[in-house]
Amino acid sequence: MGRLDGRVAMVTGASRGIGEATARRFAREGARVCLTDVNLEGALSTTRQLVDEGMDAFATRVDVTSRTEVENAVGEIIDRYGRLDILINNAGVTRDSLIYKMTDEDWRTVMNVHLTGAFFCSRAAQRHMVERNYGRIVNVSSTSALGNRGQTNYSAAKAGIQGLTKTLAVELGRYGVTANAVAPGFIETEMTRDTAARLGVDFDDFVAERVKSIPVGRAGWPEDVAAAILYFASEEAAFVSGQVLYVAGGPRD
Ligand SMILES: NC(=O)c1ccc[n+]([C@@H]2O[C@H](COP(=O)([O-])OP(=O)(O)OC[C@H]3O[C@@H](n4cnc5c(N)ncnc54)[C@H](O)[C@@H]3O)[C@@H](O)[C@H]2O)c1
Repeated sequence: MGRLDGRVAMVTGASRGIGEATARRFAREGARVCLTDVNLEGALSTTRQLVDEGMDAFATRVDVTSRTEVENAVGEIIDRYGRLDILINNAGVTRDSLIYKMTDEDWRTVMNVHLTGAFFCSRAAQRHMVERNYGRIVNVSSTSALGNRGQTNYSAAKAGIQGLTKTLAVELGRYGVTANAVAPGFIETEMTRDTAARLGVDFDDFVAERVKSIPVGRAGWPEDVAAAILYFASEEAAFVSGQVLYVAGGPRD
């Protein structure tokens, strides 16, 4: 028996990294999963593998900054499965630079994808969750919410996500809907590979340097984050809402 048997989940940014690992774990736990991403090809290739393995999943293109695309995708899930129980707001981008070099565009892009995207998806999903008196919203924040050099945009968006999460918890609790956030530290994904490339550092060297400050002595993997997301998304987390769980191999990295 899976921990998400009978549930229907939507994961944003599911074509790779943490979103992909979460979609895979959810499907293995018995959920029917809608993998969404602005990169449809990536989401489709994971979906095909899941379907080939006998799981129930489908992919649809969603740019989370588009209210229309978000609402259409939620509509598609409802048409297909008649319900939406779990929303994972995971889609993300970085546009790092020190404040004196940060452009308006870098600021807006990051705020739009992380914060406005999570707002659009949460608003669209909660309508159906409230109707059924059941829902789990899990938002992906970051240790950067605590402050990180070169990330005024990203840290503000990730801190904003924590505020959004707590307010969703306050407003939706009475309708059986919980909202929580996971805040990953350093996780080996394309996002951190891109950061290393931008800095002109070999990825293995980059990881080795970061690991020096991680108490458990290794970098995080997407599956580490997916496991924490799964807990918040499960039945057993019914009395846990408005929380932020740091998944960083220590208090922060
Ligand atoms: N990797 C880390 O160290 C780390 C640490 C803390 C938090 N996070 C957060 O975890 C989440 C996943 O990150 P990841 O490391 O797997 O990154 P990733 O770059 O591997 O994956 C991000 C996914 O989001 C998708 N995406 C980007 N813009 C989108 C949009 N407008 N609409 C829909 N999808 C979009 C991308 O296509 C990609 O598939 C992000 O929110 C990120 O900020 C990552």
